[in-house]
Amino acid sequence: MLDSTDLSPVDFHFHPHIGTSIRDRLRDAVDAVIRRPLYKVVYRKKFANLSYKIDLVLPEKGMSTLARRQWVNQYIQIRDSRILVIGCGTAWDFGSYLQFKPREVVGIDLYNFARCWQQVQDYVVQAKLPTKVTFHQGDIAELDKTLLGELDIICSDAVFEHCQSLENVLKAMYSLLRLGGIMYASYGPLWYCWGGDHFSGRDLLEHGYNHLLLDFASYQNYYRNHLKDDAYELQNGGRYVGLDLFSKISSQEYFEFYKKTGFHPISVVADFSARADALLGTSVFDKLIKRFPHITLDEFLLKGHLVILKKI
Ligand SMILES: C[S@@+](CC[C@H](N)C(=O)[O-])C[C@H]1O[C@@H](n2cnc3c(N)ncnc32)[C@H](O)[C@@H]1O
Repeated sequence: MLDSTDLSPVDFHFHPHIGTSIRDRLRDAVDAVIRRPLYKVVYRKKFANLSYKIDLVLPEKGMSTLARRQWVNQYIQIRDSRILVIGCGTAWDFGSYLQFKPREVVGIDLYNFARCWQQVQDYVVQAKLPTKVTFHQGDIAELDKTLLGELDIICSDAVFEHCQSLENVLKAMYSLLRLGGIMYASYGPLWYCWGGDHFSGRDLLEHGYNHLLLDFASYQNYYRNHLKDDAYELQNGGRYVGLDLFSKISSQEYFEFYKKTGFHPISVVADFSARADALLGTSVFDKLIKRFPHITLDEFLLKGHLVILKKI
């Protein structure tokens, strides 16, 4: 049974021109021309031992929201396409899609953000945009073609790490995508990395793996002692820990699920956690290695992925 309470933050204002200021454009240009090519060389050996192919390794927050959409646009034209945005939350970033003039954008979330969604739809009407925008509350693992038909592109930011059954979500997404369609996803921090519960480490750097290292009672204590108010926790770790909304899988397992469900990785970017790197060689890592002998060291350092997957 879905909770129909409107979770829209009271101070939400939709900003349609996200990422288009001179400062943003300058930063994106420097990222594209200088930073990313430099990182490609500097970090070429980082995560080289993982079982899946990584095309580029970046430090945290390696690509702006608009740059991510441009990245997708390199593989499939967003203009005139039908896009599904899964786990859209408040839809604060929908301006980044609308700028490309897609034919249709559908947003879905498990929770209701009706007032925020209305602001996006009001803007589309007022700006006379050519895009049809709709929102639905529902579980993405249960979506089928009867509701949505076939899509060209499926996008998600900060959702896969929250899917309790990623395999079911991927199966549903695969069936919704047309042949040759693209699924873009960015997700992290991953469960085995620093702050993998989106909560641990908010007090001290060395507590960033508490979700993996503390026993149940000590972790509950830690959680209670550092929980902030509802407004802060709405899209932060506090709420997700309470709901246990995590996939809890290693970076390698994401790729095993992609393979199993038929998705073909076209481009893979990994980002690493500087805070995790800072703890390398300390007793925290000794404990991690002892407690999780089946997990490779890289998994404790790899913060997230940005992937372009294709249905072929
Ligand atoms: C961290 S938020 C990200 C929201 C938004 N994409 C963003 O970038 O700000 C993750 C979102 O995924 C949604 N979510 C998690 N599991 C879901 C599911 N099975 N079906 C639909 N939405 C889901 C959550 O409700 C939440 O709004």
